[in-house]
Amino acid sequence: MPSTPPPGEPAPADGALPPSAAAGAAGRSFGLYLHVPFCAVRCGYCDFNTYTAAELGGGASRAEYAGTAAAELALAAAVLERAGLPRRPAATVFLGGGTPTLLPAADLAAMLDAARATVGVGPDAEVTVEANPDSVTPASLGDLAGAGVTRVSFGMQSAVPHVLAALDRTHDPERVPQVVRWARAAGLAVSLDLIYGTPGESLGDWRRSLDAALAEAPDHVSAYALVVEQGTRLAARVRRGELPMPDDDDLADKYELADDVLAAAGYAWYEVSNWARTPDDACRHNLGYWRGDDWWGVGPGAHSHVGGVRWWNVRHPAAYAARLGAGESPAQAREVLDPGQRHAERVLLGVRLAAGLPLEALAVPGRAAVPDLVDGGLVAPGAVAGGRVALTRRGRLLADTAVRALLP
Ligand SMILES: C[S@@+](CC[C@H](N)C(=O)[O-])C[C@H]1O[C@@H](n2cnc3c(N)ncnc32)[C@H](O)[C@@H]1O
Ligand code: SF4
Repeated sequence: MPSTPPPGEPAPADGALPPSAAAGAAGRSFGLYLHVPFCAVRCGYCDFNTYTAAELGGGASRAEYAGTAAAELALAAAVLERAGLPRRPAATVFLGGGTPTLLPAADLAAMLDAARATVGVGPDAEVTVEANPDSVTPASLGDLAGAGVTRVSFGMQSAVPHVLAALDRTHDPERVPQVVRWARAAGLAVSLDLIYGTPGESLGDWRRSLDAALAEAPDHVSAYALVVEQGTRLAARVRRGELPMPDDDDLADKYELADDVLAAAGYAWYEVSNWARTPDDACRHNLGYWRGDDWWGVGPGAHSHVGGVRWWNVRHPAAYAARLGAGESPAQAREVLDPGQRHAERVLLGVRLAAGLPLEALAVPGRAAVPDLVDGGLVAPGAVAGGRVALTRRGRLLADTAVRALLP
């Protein structure tokens, strides 16, 4: 859960949703995001809502966290039912962070049990856990698989020691092949997260990281351009001139290299930063976000979206636990999106998918911009002929420009 949330309007203390949230719900899938706001060390580039033991302070503890999250799950089931939503067991569950695997596997299993007992989890649900390579063992991965986890996403980031050091990552690159082997032995699908554009990373370093990731034959790869987030140690170092700001041309070269190397190894992109070995290996949970489906985000700072109502929880684990302890919703504020905002979200997120958007999803001025985007090489002419707007590789590199032209 990165960055500062928008201001929004006050959220009701009982979490009640407006009647509009239920409209059309039967046609949307439902996912659960379970946030775990703990990390052993804070990486200098990361502004996710996560706390080291020293940062956590009083009023919240790791040991009590699964129970607190279970209280929000009970609230979620009651709120959805009261709002008249049909019962939709979660088609996907994503335990994200932070570092969920800092909690004992039994606590994550308890959170999944609470999800099953409240909102429900579908029998074929995709259940992902994010993990730092330092924070798993063969036994913990086996326990997670036994608890219903189907997929693990490791924060590999790089295979090159000086790049990992610049990112403040604590794991030894040799650890990645080992944890992937353990995950496979436990029967879990594997995704690897990579970051490119770290200060000091050469194109050769990036190639080495891609090759090392591919050597593990993961089912899925995410490759993110390093974002210098306000308020992080990385941003302070860039501001002081100790480190250079990531360079746009260098980032573009690294994106193209990733796309070439991953495509040559048989991985197809399905979202600007995500590649999968087969369509079934795509992350169904994240696809739900990008397609505008419904999801409930449990945990401090977690965001939710149900039928055009978006809300976000108080950020600090102590404030979160206090709200739930008092029988109140942890929602800090919410927004009821108007049709214009819903349209903007659909275009903004949908156009980043390889499947693109139907042309009729665009408003008239957006549709009028398509021929120029085709001429500029940003939108694929073949897709347009088939009635859809999908980005070319140049379009993916200039996705913000394409979105600005398509949005009016
Ligand atoms: C919650 S973390 C994954 C699990 C675990 N905490 C870890 O880092 O190993 C989610 C992913 O977000 C990405 N990420 C976080 N901050 C980023 C930033 N400033 N720029 C680019 N990617 C970032 C990293 O690739 C990270 O793996
Ligand atoms: S381990 Fe992951 S969530 Fe924690 S600070 Fe690092 S990148 Fe952020």
